[in-house]
Amino acid sequence: MSGKDEKRNGSGRPNRASVEDMGPATWGVRAGLTRSPHGETSEALWLTSGYVYESAEEAAARFSGDSEGYVYSRYGNPTVSMFEQRLAALEGAEACMATGSGMAAMFSALASHLQAGDHVVASRFLFGSCHQVITKILPRFGITHTLVDASDPQAWQDAVRPQTRAFFLETPANPTLDVFDIPAIAAIARQAGALLVVDNVFATPVLQNPLRLGADVVIHSATKHMDGQGRTMGGAVLGSRKYVTETLMPFLRHTGPTLAPFNAWVLLKGLETLKLRVEAASRSALTIARHLEERLGRGQVRYPFLESFAGHELAREQMRAGGTLVTFTLPGGRDMAFAFLNALRLIDISNNLGDAKSLITHPASTTHSAVKEEDRRAQGITEGLVRLSVGLEDAADLIADIDRALEIAGA
Ligand SMILES: Cc1ncc(COP(=O)(O)O)c(C=O)c1O
Repeated sequence: MSGKDEKRNGSGRPNRASVEDMGPATWGVRAGLTRSPHGETSEALWLTSGYVYESAEEAAARFSGDSEGYVYSRYGNPTVSMFEQRLAALEGAEACMATGSGMAAMFSALASHLQAGDHVVASRFLFGSCHQVITKILPRFGITHTLVDASDPQAWQDAVRPQTRAFFLETPANPTLDVFDIPAIAAIARQAGALLVVDNVFATPVLQNPLRLGADVVIHSATKHMDGQGRTMGGAVLGSRKYVTETLMPFLRHTGPTLAPFNAWVLLKGLETLKLRVEAASRSALTIARHLEERLGRGQVRYPFLESFAGHELAREQMRAGGTLVTFTLPGGRDMAFAFLNALRLIDISNNLGDAKSLITHPASTTHSAVKEEDRRAQGITEGLVRLSVGLEDAADLIADIDRALEIAGA
């Protein structure tokens, strides 16, 4: 988090406008902008690990907190601060801290808050590594868990124990795109005294703001849509100033999953176009989902804004568009799914998502291969399921590629 709240531009002239009361497109371009004395147009890239002081007294004052300013880039860096402030504006958060990856954000959000003897209630529908953290890594530190069918508020309620200190879910979930009721789950968490942590990677702050819906903490993989061009890893944790400064910051400072300034700069520039990119890809994703539904049949395609999607009314309440991912099932299991992926010419086979290039993966053999088969089945991840991340190509070209590959695969 930033060590100072700079309100002046590089020439010493006060910034002409505070962006706080403006709209999200303006925040994406302007929020957090702190110019150096050179008055550069683009955000400055501060490639420095340390900082120097005018005197030994000043160094001591920075360390004691009596004087504001940066002390070490594991603790904070001006380029990283700009990214944090811009993302906080987009999510409607009081505070944000960036991390080196989405998994560093997810793990830190929970590990900074929990201790041995605590219990977590988590959605059964989780990205493979998040599932591993909850079911394999946290238990090694004496933190137990219960996985629930996240679509049933009663299941969350029933799972609460006196030791429950956190709820964790992702919505839409990876890869089934199931959508869960954040306000309803937040009410149960609040009553239980548990911190509700929401993974907002699939929706992005453009389409959904969990903090405004009652969540306490949001985590992001900035690797996905925020970069959006396949270049850097990154992550972020957002929440109240109290949670960030008192709980998260000491954990991050001393364990060090820091975001590199260069990566923060790439992500900062990514935030400038995030809204345009996510909205454009979401429009194409809906067109493709509708086309696939006609081609494969109702019930074979999962997309939150399709009328046939089980949670589509909730999705329309919680989200501003259906997102950039479309998940669908091919009738011939893994063989047909592999034949289809191999026949694509334009769409690339990749487990990444949220990119300008459309990417496709077979979750059972990639992103969710470390999850036990019975858990995968409980999540609805079948052998014929494929997940398409829609990019910025012309939707007609993507549909032509998909149709050709379906034909070759015999679907
Ligand atoms: C829903 C979700 N959360 C978290 C992550 C982790 O992000 P990263 O790969 O940046 O560590 C991913 C990565 O695919 C994801 O899909």
